[in-house]
Amino acid sequence: QGEDGYLAWLPYRRQETKEGLERCKAYRQIVVAAAAEDGGAVIQSAAAELARGLESLSGLSAAVVNEGEVPESGAYIQLALFSSPAAGMDRLFPAAVRTEIGPEGFTMQTEADTGRIVIAAAAPAGLLYGAFHLLRLFAAGQSVDGLNIQENPVNPLRMINHWDNMDGSIERGYAGKSIFFENNRFKADKQRIRDYARLLASVGINAVSINNVNVHKQETLLITEEFLPDVAEVAAIFREYAVKLFLSVNYAAPVEMGELPTADPLDPAVQAWWQRRTQDVYAAIPDFGGYVVKADSENRPGPFTYGRDHADGANMLAEGLEPYGGIVIWRCFVYNCKQDWRDRKTDRARAAYDHFKPLDGRFKDNVILQVKNGPIDFQVREPISPLLGAMPSTHQVLELQITQEYTGQQRHLCYLVPQWREILDFDTHLKGNGSTVKRIASGELHGSRLAGIAAVSNIGDDANWTGHRLAQANLYGYGRLTWNPELTSSAIAEEWIRLTFGNGSEKLIRTVQQMLLDSWGIYESYTAPLGVGFMVNPDHHYGPNVEGYEYSMWGTYHFADWQGIGVDRTKATGTGYTGQYAGPNFERYESLETCPDELLLFFHHVPYTHKLHSGKTVIQHIYDTHFDGAEQAERLAAQWEALAGSMDEGLHRQVAERLAEQAEHAKEWRDRINTYFYRRCGIADEQGRTIY
Ligand code: GCU
Repeated sequence: QGEDGYLAWLPYRRQETKEGLERCKAYRQIVVAAAAEDGGAVIQSAAAELARGLESLSGLSAAVVNEGEVPESGAYIQLALFSSPAAGMDRLFPAAVRTEIGPEGFTMQTEADTGRIVIAAAAPAGLLYGAFHLLRLFAAGQSVDGLNIQENPVNPLRMINHWDNMDGSIERGYAGKSIFFENNRFKADKQRIRDYARLLASVGINAVSINNVNVHKQETLLITEEFLPDVAEVAAIFREYAVKLFLSVNYAAPVEMGELPTADPLDPAVQAWWQRRTQDVYAAIPDFGGYVVKADSENRPGPFTYGRDHADGANMLAEGLEPYGGIVIWRCFVYNCKQDWRDRKTDRARAAYDHFKPLDGRFKDNVILQVKNGPIDFQVREPISPLLGAMPSTHQVLELQITQEYTGQQRHLCYLVPQWREILDFDTHLKGNGSTVKRIASGELHGSRLAGIAAVSNIGDDANWTGHRLAQANLYGYGRLTWNPELTSSAIAEEWIRLTFGNGSEKLIRTVQQMLLDSWGIYESYTAPLGVGFMVNPDHHYGPNVEGYEYSMWGTYHFADWQGIGVDRTKATGTGYTGQYAGPNFERYESLETCPDELLLFFHHVPYTHKLHSGKTVIQHIYDTHFDGAEQAERLAAQWEALAGSMDEGLHRQVAERLAEQAEHAKEWRDRINTYFYRRCGIADEQGRTIY
């Protein structure tokens, strides 16, 4: 049983308790309400998953049967669309229940007298999600008596963005090579893509873009006849799991393919070019999702070249997609990446808001703007992007990063769900109290038709998908949280642990859960302090380098000198970035008195002797957290060590090696940061610990 980690959270281990085993043994017939029409394949996937899962959980064979072959006695699982004439549907799911279930939702009931479990939905995708939900219950050893469940995904778009290149490399990938591409072509063997589609569907993901947002020469051709047959094949695999396929496109494609002299969005020839290309795409993939676009960002081409703006650019693509129901996902990661470090007026944090906010209302209805969670770039700690929710007449999706670019690159343990929970729970106050990011992401706050969450993938072709086995929890957690942002970090962790490791050892479950929950805080404590960001090595972004970006053109500075550190982003004396926040948040960040400690250096430049709310000075906080963080990283390794013997040896060793590396590397972080600041300011550590 795949102890290389390939089965991730779907190994469906044999149930440990007699009760659990008996329960799984009782449900070995899956009855499908026949649906030959559209979506039949998704329903078949749902049924096949149930059969496969229950077989594995019970050790006995399970079978999928048609409605005509309903077993006369014994319990069974039935998958039925509301429209199906299956027995008892009206009684189990009266109109009042059905109206509560959205297009991707499901409802599930256990019939008291027979034990039959019926999963019902308005559409096939709901049955698939219901099937995985039920399997989670079985696998966690929970009772399935008296089930009465109604679930709808909170976010309409639940997307994964791959940054995969066709040469097989992955930008910011830390788990091997692409599962889609190699040698500038699609991989011939598509089995891994199918297995991946299962993983995504099991946590409710419904959209995927398969190529890097930085669209290079070869990837520009993905929308041409050369590669569309391959794209269609991949789309067909995802379709069976209710996942829609998107492509990242090159804004300058007409020029770079040598077909037009311009990519000006207002030029009719350019418009016609995209319409024709888009028509070809839909001829190959009738349910194609649409285009993801990084334009006028980090040297990528875009409408600015022609004196046009982002709305002109996005709308032009949107027009081509509109007849087919396709959408444009236009990224807002736009800033000046050629800044002069001497220039202290330009503030990269301001850029997305400054560029996009004035365009509110100008985008077509099938355009969504994709906004990163923070104003800089997926740092371990950043404030929430003030652009989120600030364009009430424009659709938006929130962008997160699952791949651990700045959070340890899957060599360090960093469970990101607590960070995402904080982001989603943040109150923007844009429409009064309670205007949380989760209500913006879901589309509810502004009544947006298109909304949701996208995140950069953390998988590659490593046997266990994510390099660090425990990093699987981030992909799992992303899906679960995106389905339901009210799930707690700790509940999601426990689900993942039970599914991954089984229910056999309570000690294992609690230890790994605690390790996961502590890990983000630990990582933060030995890396960049108090929200200051960017203290990493240039380019690859791994490991400490306090001045790595200080004199570069990327706009990510901390301004540490002999007296103090931090970026003054106040309206009163700084870059004015704080003014992009709504009332109470503006006030909170603007004032040194109320600015939260963890973001202090993001918003203010302060002396090292400045006293935090915690009572410590900034410099002592830096020393303390770094000594403490490195110690805690060692503790993580020790906690894991104590689990030897309670799991597969190879798996244990693999994670142990990474945790040992983390502990070592955390010391490097500690000593580099502490030494840098000690040498800068000359203030000794109150506790007299070793600083070099
Ligand atoms: C970061 C990352 C890049 C990526 C970019 C983006 O800057 O380091 O690799 O291309 O974000 O989101 O477009």
